[in-house]
Amino acid sequence: MEIHRFEKLWVALALLLIVGFIGTVTYGAVGAGVKMVDESGGTVDANALNDHPRFGEPGTYQVGENEYEVYVVARQFLFEPGTNEPIRVPAGSTVTFHITSSDVIHGFEVAGTNINTMVIPGQVTQITVRFEESRSYGIICHEYCGAAHHTMEGQLQVVP
Ligand code: CUA
Repeated sequence: MEIHRFEKLWVALALLLIVGFIGTVTYGAVGAGVKMVDESGGTVDANALNDHPRFGEPGTYQVGENEYEVYVVARQFLFEPGTNEPIRVPAGSTVTFHITSSDVIHGFEVAGTNINTMVIPGQVTQITVRFEESRSYGIICHEYCGAAHHTMEGQLQVVP
């Protein structure tokens, strides 16, 4: 009967872990000075991104005193901006990322935060976050997208 008691204990611990994980996913702070505000999106013509008013010239656009919109195009095997030049936003700002792909499915993960999403051609992934503190983050593609998938990365700089 001793064994039975231990088994109960382990089941209880396992349940506690599961509840903990769900709690982290649902209510978790984004971590590292970032706060998730909203996550939604729309559609776009993946074959005509160059004609798009924003994706045609991806980058950071200021839309309010402390509000920015960042347009990012993911393609084999870089983020534009992000890879050849870092994405830059000021600390203390609310930033909405609009991310899409011009070719295949990619991932967009800001390491150390829960900004983590798939990037699908034809769809715009929209994530709004607040950056509290200045620091830099690595960006990685976490969806297999071809031979050089493992080299697909970038940088996000939250500047003072
Ligand atoms: Cu892009 Cu993996």
